Amino acid sequence: MMVGSPDGDDVIVRPFACVVLAAGKGTRMASDVPKPLHCVCGKPMIDHVLALARELEPDRLIMVLGADREAVAAHLPGGVTVAVQEPQLGTGHAVASAREALADFEGDVLVTCADIPLLTPTTVAKLLAMHRDEGASASVLTMLPDDPTGYGRLVRDENGAVRAIVEHRDADDETLAIGEVNSSVYCFDARALFDALGRLRPDNDQAEYYLTDVIRLMVDDGLPVRAMPSEDADEVMGINTRVQLALAERIARDRVRERVMLAGATLLDPPSTMIDADVTIGRDTVIGPGSCLLGATTVGERCELRSNVTLRDATVGDGVLLRDHTVIEISSVGDESELGPFTLVRGNSGVGNRCKLGSSAEMNRSRIGDGSKMQHFSYLGDSDVGERCNIGAGAITCNYDGLGKHHTVIEDEVFIGSSAVLVAPVSIERGAYVAAGSVVTKDVPAGALAIERTHQKNIEDWVSRWHSRRKGREEQ
Ligand code: UD1
Ligand code: CA
Repeated sequence: MMVGSPDGDDVIVRPFACVVLAAGKGTRMASDVPKPLHCVCGKPMIDHVLALARELEPDRLIMVLGADREAVAAHLPGGVTVAVQEPQLGTGHAVASAREALADFEGDVLVTCADIPLLTPTTVAKLLAMHRDEGASASVLTMLPDDPTGYGRLVRDENGAVRAIVEHRDADDETLAIGEVNSSVYCFDARALFDALGRLRPDNDQAEYYLTDVIRLMVDDGLPVRAMPSEDADEVMGINTRVQLALAERIARDRVRERVMLAGATLLDPPSTMIDADVTIGRDTVIGPGSCLLGATTVGERCELRSNVTLRDATVGDGVLLRDHTVIEISSVGDESELGPFTLVRGNSGVGNRCKLGSSAEMNRSRIGDGSKMQHFSYLGDSDVGERCNIGAGAITCNYDGLGKHHTVIEDEVFIGSSAVLVAPVSIERGAYVAAGSVVTKDVPAGALAIERTHQKNIEDWVSRWHSRRKGREEQ
């Protein structure tokens, strides 16, 4: 790998491999879902770790999978090397499972775990830099959490030099009093690592091969071993239980809200606003309380999202107004459109620019062109609507006949009267009008009026005659 040196010359640095441990059973999650697939900020933990790895650009990336490996592997993108650990005999045994994948590798091995979702590339890069600067054989990222319960303690000698890591369950009271703990993020020299792994013994409370014991072996060999405390204990927290998952979720959500605010979005009530990890929001967009922006959602600049708006895998352009309780799922909305309150756009639908969709308007697998309006209580399913159309209040497409779905085409500048029913498959050609209350089963040619209803009959004095008839009945 080539990187720029401070004086501008390119220097060759040692290659580095990244090994992610994800083979454990995750018993403490008490779940049928594999631990790496539990989500933080709407994204499986394994994806957070993959995103981190991608930013670091390692020369090799190896995932160690074991328990539930089919489910986890099915989730991985192409190009990731999988090493199988079967059975799962501990974290040291897990890294040893990557031996074959790294057989010809010389350089540094960065080890992290699929259950450390909040770790940032900045911290890992710092660890790697220190590891190289010090010419260490092993470097451990440590932390000082408020509550060290459950973590392995980092034992240093009287001069502060690293001696060993002792797991919580194997520690005596004196060791348990140590506040500095192992985060399970390490850099190793590959050769020293695999040499030490070959000498691990499962002589501990869990009878497992602990990666942490590599530290003691290297220290005993007189190799340089370092530890770097992380500045932020939250960042390196390991997720073993749902309680820790909820804590990580809260921290991650705070981080995302901070990111979007620093990028220029206004959140009127940050704590009630849910924003998933990969959502992007443009400058000067204002988001009201109770709104959820989820999955692969993108919102443009200068938008206004009033309260309780839900966007799931939605693409929203610039200058869009989404009134209260608008829901957009796997669909897009063009610039300067206005939706809501209570509009539902779903199923790969597309709303053009400068459209107006009002209360209880719903679109499913449909498109509506620029400048078109659909203001009240209407439904478009499997439909293509052109530009500058008006879909009247209560007008609907009947796209489903009980067996299959059928298509409706509404060309540019069509006017669909209120409560019209368009029975698909049907086409309304350019500029045509459909009279209110009509049930349209045949195509309507361009410029025509389709009217399908009986003539109106007014019965004079009907009301007073009806009242007297009723009165007569009551007196009997
Ligand atoms: C581990 C460390 C502990 C550290 C803590 C930080 C060991 C022995 N202990 O404890 O010092 O403070 O992380 O969060 O390393 N895994 C495998 N194969 C196995 C066992 C585990 O791949 O056979 C994977 C798990 O999927 C997980 C990671 O290794 O991603 C850590 O395992 P876990 O059981 O969570 O270790 P901790 O008890 O948290
Ligand atoms: Ca853990």
